Amino acid sequence: MQKILVTGGLGYIGSHTVVGLIEAGFDVVILDNLSNADKTTLDRIAQITHHTPIFFEGDIRDTELLSKICLKHPDIKAVIHFAGLKAVGESVAHPLKYYDNNVVGSIRLIEAMQKHHIKNIIFSSSATVYAPQKEAALREDDSKTPSNPYGQTKWMIENILKDQYGSDPTWRISVLRYFNPVGAHGSGLIGENPKGIPNNLFPYIAQTASGIRQKLNVFGGDYPTADGTAMRDYIHIDDLVKGHIAALKYSSDHKGYHAFNLGTGKGTSVLEAIKVFEKTNEVKIPYEVTARREGDIATCFANADLAYKVLGWKATKNLEDMCRDHWRWQQHLNQCRSH
Ligand code: NAD
Ligand code: UD1
Repeated sequence: MQKILVTGGLGYIGSHTVVGLIEAGFDVVILDNLSNADKTTLDRIAQITHHTPIFFEGDIRDTELLSKICLKHPDIKAVIHFAGLKAVGESVAHPLKYYDNNVVGSIRLIEAMQKHHIKNIIFSSSATVYAPQKEAALREDDSKTPSNPYGQTKWMIENILKDQYGSDPTWRISVLRYFNPVGAHGSGLIGENPKGIPNNLFPYIAQTASGIRQKLNVFGGDYPTADGTAMRDYIHIDDLVKGHIAALKYSSDHKGYHAFNLGTGKGTSVLEAIKVFEKTNEVKIPYEVTARREGDIATCFANADLAYKVLGWKATKNLEDMCRDHWRWQQHLNQCRSH
């Protein structure tokens, strides 16, 4: 049984991946500082998988802790590195916090991996690294111009990993650029629970459908798209998890540095997302078309051919699946709130 260290393993994508890893027969060690997660997620993972993964509460910047984990678990074969801060607006207001947490944190982690001969990493990058103007499907080799400090941290870490591979070609490095992950585990026991007012579309839609928010502001109705609203490539969290497992399997046979888009390849407009959410879940989402959100682009969707060609991975879940599973999770949150 291969042992995998998962940093940020109690967060949204991390917790679903931990479940996927356990179900695929991997042994998991989690490191998370709980800055954006709750320890009860560990119990939820145990409830779903009937197995409690080993958990270290702590920070990826803590060199001593990293050494302790590596010495205690010398059989760790690879690291899936989710730990990071991800709020674009906050990164503009507090750039140093982002560079420190994400970039310095990743350097500390890579150093520890090199020292303890764990030369296999899967890194969570983002579609946000691409230059914002392009209107066609984004390919891995398209130009990169991150437009905010959060995106800069992702692009910097990608380059640090590339240079690390350049210095030691025995590394196995998979950079996964996620498009817009949404949805939740089919059990309804784990999902994303944003603090405060959600920035992202799906959590906002789900809260509006629940009556927590009065109405959804649709940011911009004058984009050059069929219905005038912006288009994104929403991908079900289950598909994203499968992408990590495919990358892990690939890296066990292949050294090298690779970057892959993880998206469906299909753009969905804000109005389409609202309509499908309403129809799938038989709910009403009051909305109003307002001004564009600063910094937003008209369309962003993946060309995911490379992941299919190399990893044999492609997304299989559709927008109805995403809406249904997101709503099931929101209803679980609503129940917790009312008790
Ligand atoms: P999340 O905030 O739910 O999970 C991140 C986890 O990392 C949290 O549990 C947090 O407590 C932990 N963490 C943060 N800094 C840490 C540190 N210094 N040491 C230890 N633990 C730390 O976010 P998520 O949505 O699950 O995203 C996971 C990764 O994927 C992030 O790196 C994010 O930038 C990237 N990503 C996310 C999206 C998205 O839409 N969710 C899109 C593209 C990329
Ligand atoms: C955001 C992040 C990006 C991250 C991505 C995936 C910003 C600026 N960018 O991008 O870094 O990689 O999420 O998680 O935060 N919308 C509304 N009303 C709302 C919320 C959103 O109309 O209340 C629209 C947006 O204008 C956009 C679409 O819905 O057109 C999706 O928005 P969002 O979920 O925030 O994702 P991104 O903008 O793609």
